[in-house]
Amino acid sequence: MGAVIIGKKELKRQQILALDDPHCECIKYPGDKSLKERAAKKKILFGTAIRHPLLSTDKEYARSLIEECSILVSEWGFKWHVYPKPLRPTPQSFDFAAADVMYNFARSHGMKVRGHTLVWYMSLPPWFEKTVNRQNAKDILEKHINTVVGRYRGKMHSWDVVNEAIEPRDGHPNGLRKTPWLEFIGEDYIDLAFRLAHKADPEAMLVYNDYGLVYDRPQDEAKRHAVIKLLKRLKSQGTPIHALGLQAHLDGSETRFNHQILKDFLAQVANLGLKIMVTELDVTDKDLPLDIKVRDRIVAKAYSNYLKVVLEEPAVIAILTWGLNDKHSWLNEFQPRKDGASVRPLPLDAGGKRKFAWNAMARAFDTAPSR
Ligand code: XIL
Repeated sequence: MGAVIIGKKELKRQQILALDDPHCECIKYPGDKSLKERAAKKKILFGTAIRHPLLSTDKEYARSLIEECSILVSEWGFKWHVYPKPLRPTPQSFDFAAADVMYNFARSHGMKVRGHTLVWYMSLPPWFEKTVNRQNAKDILEKHINTVVGRYRGKMHSWDVVNEAIEPRDGHPNGLRKTPWLEFIGEDYIDLAFRLAHKADPEAMLVYNDYGLVYDRPQDEAKRHAVIKLLKRLKSQGTPIHALGLQAHLDGSETRFNHQILKDFLAQVANLGLKIMVTELDVTDKDLPLDIKVRDRIVAKAYSNYLKVVLEEPAVIAILTWGLNDKHSWLNEFQPRKDGASVRPLPLDAGGKRKFAWNAMARAFDTAPSR
């Protein structure tokens, strides 16, 4: 007897098809081989964002990272100001305690490390607003990048140099998001950040990272267009940019997924000579029915649909999820379910058990063309 699926009435046609697909690659467990091993066979890196305080308090969490991942990024430690110890306590000081915990854990287990993120409009320290202005913003940015990137010179796989700089709804002629950096330095802040990062570490791969580039929706299309325009402009002026980071925060209840549109976008990026990384992959189930079997299958199908298209693009070199285990997903805080049920957006459940989403990712790596 197949899984008894309830809650179908709330589902859209595509989702019911996903559930009824007897060949859904997410149901049958594909064996114990880890995600990093499967990805490595195709010369792809698999990893995730980690919450560094858990490395010492949750041994099972640490074990699963070692088992599944070949590259790590810190969810908090390399940002200007995030829980629990900010990297930038004051305008003059740096505290690398959090960053070093993740860095040392990763390197001690033979994993690569990526830095996230040098220039963003969020997670800025309390002193930023009353301190930074048109006169000093460039110097503050230069000091930050030189100090942070310089500290790990020659040791980082890649850096998200600039994060989320595009927002067409802000009305800028080039679709730039209205941020303090744009206000105080002008639109050349992006080029400046990349040049500073490249000077501080000529070996690191330098990435522009953004979200909302997935679906066949007007806002996604506008953003894809503005991102391509930005990348073309940066390449034309010789900016040392090497890759586009796709955050890929997917929505399990979104059915406007057009594989050809995504495929064409990735090809446009690759044709600029850029590599592509999926940097923050997860699938929100906040609007899916309560039934876990229903949710898990639709979430897994979303992973499967997305990764099938993405991994067909040879320029894609890495896939990172934004968390590995449902218990520690940012979506518990950022996109909780109205019914109060725990969210299930990631490959492992709260107890660290592999889910249908893990099966789907494993199959995606197994069937992907090699780089
Ligand atoms: C989020 C973290 O997951 C949260 O814990 C933190 O409070 C805020 O930042 N896109 C990004 C990430 O590039 O840096 C964000 O991370 C999630 C959205």
